[in-house]
Amino acid sequence: MEPILRLSGVSKTYDGGHQALKSVDLDIRRGEIFALLGPNGAGKTTMISIVCGIVTPSGGTISVDGHDAIRDYRKARRMIGLVPQELSVDMFETVIATARFSRRLFGRAPDEAYIEQLLKDLSLWDKRKSKIMELSGGMKRRVLIAKALSHEPDILFLDEPTAGVDVSLRRDMWKLIGRLRERGVTIILTTHYIEEAEEMADRVGVIAKGELLLVEEKTALMAKLGKREMDILLVEPLNAVPDALSEWNLSLEDEGHRLRYAFDATAEHTGIPSLLRKLGDLGIAFKDLETSKSSLEDIFVDLVSHRDEEQAA
Ligand SMILES: Nc1ncnc2c1ncn2[C@@H]1O[C@H](COP(=O)(O)OP(=O)(O)OP(=O)(O)O)[C@@H](O)[C@H]1O
Ligand SMILES: [Mg+2]
Repeated sequence: MEPILRLSGVSKTYDGGHQALKSVDLDIRRGEIFALLGPNGAGKTTMISIVCGIVTPSGGTISVDGHDAIRDYRKARRMIGLVPQELSVDMFETVIATARFSRRLFGRAPDEAYIEQLLKDLSLWDKRKSKIMELSGGMKRRVLIAKALSHEPDILFLDEPTAGVDVSLRRDMWKLIGRLRERGVTIILTTHYIEEAEEMADRVGVIAKGELLLVEEKTALMAKLGKREMDILLVEPLNAVPDALSEWNLSLEDEGHRLRYAFDATAEHTGIPSLLRKLGDLGIAFKDLETSKSSLEDIFVDLVSHRDEEQAA
C-alpha cells in the first residue's frame, strides 16, 4: 500500500544558519501509530511544522496521500490535524466555538452531531460554553485536540501530547488515541517518554540533532532498549567479582562498594532472585538495591556517539 505520508530528503536550515533537519526520509503507513522520539532540540517540531505547512523546508518533498504538501497545500493540509506543542487558541473564545470555527476553516460543512460527540469523547461537553481561559491546563490541552480533530482529519499529529499532564489525563489521552486508530486515523506523536512509545506505537523513529537515526517496529526496538542495570550496595567492599558469580554479568563500581548487574529486562528470567540467593550463600551482605533502566537519553547518547565515531572513521 502507498504510504499515507512520505518525506523525501526533507531538510531545514533556519535563518541564522542552524540546521534543524538533515535530509529526512520517512514513510508513514496508513493507519499506524508512529512515535517520534528525540531529545530537546532534535527537530521533531520542525519536522511536523514542515508537514503542516507552518515552516518552509529548505529542501526535499512531502507527499500527503499523493498531494504535494507545498504545491497542493490546501488538499494536503485538510487531511491533517495538528495538536501543537504550544497552546495556540483564542483564550476569549468558548470551547464549542473554537471547535466549530476550526472545522469551518478547513472547508468542512457544519456537523453539530460530530462536534457534540467529539467534545463528549474529550470530556469537554460540560465545558462547551466556557471560555478557554477559564479552563485548567489539562482541559486546555483537550481543547487543542478537539480543535485538531474538528475537521475529521485522516492524519493526526500530536506534538508532545502528554508533556506536563497528570497520570489520569495521560491515560485518557492514550485511550483516545487508541479509539482514533480503530477508526483508521493515522497518528504521529512526538514524545520524550519511552513508556509512551511503548504503550502506544506500532513503529518508533529516533531523531537527534536533525537526523533520523533509526525507524523500527516497536517490538524490535523495545528488545534493544530492554537492557537494565541493578546496583547492589555492599556492606563491605569487594576487591574482585567472585568466581562463584561468573554466570551473572557483573562488574564492580565505586571502589568495590557497588556490584553492578547488567541484565535484559525483557528476558523471561532476569537472574536476580538466584543472584541474591547466591550472594546470601557466599555471605556477601548488602544494604540496598538500586535499579535503573537505560533512559531514552542514554540511548540517544549511545546512538549519537556511535554515529559520531562512524563519521570520524
Ligand atoms: N524559528 C526558529 N528559528 C531558529 N531556530 C529554530 C526555530 N525553531 C526551532 N529552531 C531550532 O531548531 C532546532 C530544532 O528545534 P525543534 O523545535 O524542532 O526541536 P524539538 O525536537 O521539537 O525539541 P523539543 O523536544 O524541545 O520540543 C533547535 O535547535 C531549535 O533551537
Ligand atoms: Mg518540539
